[in-house]
Amino acid sequence: MKSVLEGRPALKEEIDKIAEVAGYLWQNGWAERNGGNITVNITDLVDDGIKALPAIGEVKRIGATLPALKGTYFYCKGTGKRMRDLARRPMDNGSIIRVLDDCESYAIIADKEVLPTSELPSHLSVHARLIEKGSPYKATVHTHPIELIAMSHNKKFMKKDVLTNILWSMIPETKAFCPLGLGMVPYELPGSVELANATLNALEEYDVVMWEKHGVFAKGLDVMDAFDQIDVLSKSAKIYIDAKCMGFTPDGMSEEQMKEMTVAFNLPR
Ligand code: 13P
Ligand code: ZN
Repeated sequence: MKSVLEGRPALKEEIDKIAEVAGYLWQNGWAERNGGNITVNITDLVDDGIKALPAIGEVKRIGATLPALKGTYFYCKGTGKRMRDLARRPMDNGSIIRVLDDCESYAIIADKEVLPTSELPSHLSVHARLIEKGSPYKATVHTHPIELIAMSHNKKFMKKDVLTNILWSMIPETKAFCPLGLGMVPYELPGSVELANATLNALEEYDVVMWEKHGVFAKGLDVMDAFDQIDVLSKSAKIYIDAKCMGFTPDGMSEEQMKEMTVAFNLPR
């Protein structure tokens, strides 16, 4: 069977980037079994040939009404699919969907009938909000980074910006490359509309949010940008934990050093 990617180099490049990041998630140990999901808004890369593709299988409900998504197209990781498999075969472990005119349902259009991720309510709510705001962000990533999840098992780290300040102070680059910090989302059932709504709210203020005792959810310009922000936060968490393992609480950069970064890199705070 011919893939929709054939003869569409720009779309193929985008899907290749998703596959590359899926490999990094697996290599990092953040993607056990089917853990994590990626969706990317590919509407700008869709031509008339793709628009004419019929639905594969039945039309499905999103679980929310999202007017901003009318006629948009997304690549979605398949539910139950493994990142390590997606890294090698993105169109067997994910699919392209079209949001229908009722704005509450979607059809899978390529390449195969691979059902989208169970976290679709969170992903699509966030994409809808990004479109409403005129944001250039096109990608959302959910993954299970070990050290960050471990830290979310302590209530004191779940308080607003406690973890942001600790992680920023571990290494200057974290503040520079994740300048909005890490938002906190108290535990909600995976795949639920409650989790989607809480994620949506928290992402108004942050690019990356922690799902308590579950994982992180990030938005970015593209899938690489979303991954990079999670990666720098995770690096800081590892440094904090390594210092603790050596028997001391790390000093962290001083307030003065953090302020100096804000000025030097022209950061929002
Ligand atoms: P899916 O396999 O449905 O994408 O779920 C993985 C996951 O991490 C749920 O939070
Ligand atoms: Zn998860």
